[in-house]
Amino acid sequence: MADKIKRIAVLCSGGDAPGMNAAIRAVVRTGNFHDLHVYGIYNGYQGMINGEIIRLEKGDVANIIHKGGTTLKTARSKEFMNKAGRKQAHQTLIANDIDAVVAIGGNGTFTGAQIFQSEFDFPMMGVPGTIDNDIFGTDYTIGFDTAVNTAIDAVDKIRDTADSHNRLFFVEVMGRHSGYIAMYTGLGSGASGILIPESETDVDELLGQLEKMALKKKLFGLIIVAEGNENGNAHRIAKIVEKKFTQYETKVAVIGHLQRGGSPTAQDRVLATRMGHGAVEGLLNGHHNVMCGIQNNEVVYVPLKDAIKKLKPIDSNILSLPSILS
Ligand code: F6P
Repeated sequence: MADKIKRIAVLCSGGDAPGMNAAIRAVVRTGNFHDLHVYGIYNGYQGMINGEIIRLEKGDVANIIHKGGTTLKTARSKEFMNKAGRKQAHQTLIANDIDAVVAIGGNGTFTGAQIFQSEFDFPMMGVPGTIDNDIFGTDYTIGFDTAVNTAIDAVDKIRDTADSHNRLFFVEVMGRHSGYIAMYTGLGSGASGILIPESETDVDELLGQLEKMALKKKLFGLIIVAEGNENGNAHRIAKIVEKKFTQYETKVAVIGHLQRGGSPTAQDRVLATRMGHGAVEGLLNGHHNVMCGIQNNEVVYVPLKDAIKKLKPIDSNILSLPSILS
């Protein structure tokens, strides 16, 4: 297999994440180092269907390591979910003599890669790029650290006004099915509570915590809510709290897509660079239908089917910390 790989393509799919450009750069330059021809596919799997593919050389990825977003653009392709779309995408790859594809993205991206590999026996390599950090088999995903830093910066600012007015703020952060951003933002900003989709009991715990705070006449606080929380988003949680406590003056702030942009942190640049490099090395060493992740600071290759199906565990100890520390 290793002998066969001479021409590879790289794409980004799903939600963009700061650090994707660093990963693209590492894929292109590691490929060039091994005398491979490297191609960039624009607009994710949709671009694979439409044949939006161009050769990328060393200079084409200069001055992008520090940029947010993705220079290859990204998309969530509905057409790629159908067999006809995937067949068309396969034809693009054959027409361009591509031997393997590096797909940078999250769960949806890897699901597409896994199906594509099984239908056409085509070598695929996943690189975990999503701010949500919800991929099993890697300690961190590209973009997570930057998103958390952005969210913490926003919460710090909200803290100033919350403190001045003695208000209880519910700050909604991203994470459709995942509470990682909420957990790290909550801990890093000294929040009084964290609500995440993975935990069903956390609203009760929050109400208990607010009761204790109210008894101490501490009416100022920050509660971080993941957008995908089982019990509803920040507005709904704020309503539940307002009904139970009249003492608190509540406010809601939804940070939204701010968390997806900006220059990647040092951590994300290093992570993305190691993963992009590891992806190409992995393909050349015969790994395919896997994701290149990082575990305990080592590059690892994890079957895509595990990365997609298995749930990344949540450390429940982290969730209990706000009630001890705030
Ligand atoms: O997957 C990353 C993510 O930012 C989620 O946290 C969020 O739910 C989703 O993407 C939003 O997607 P879109 O930008 O397509 O609305």
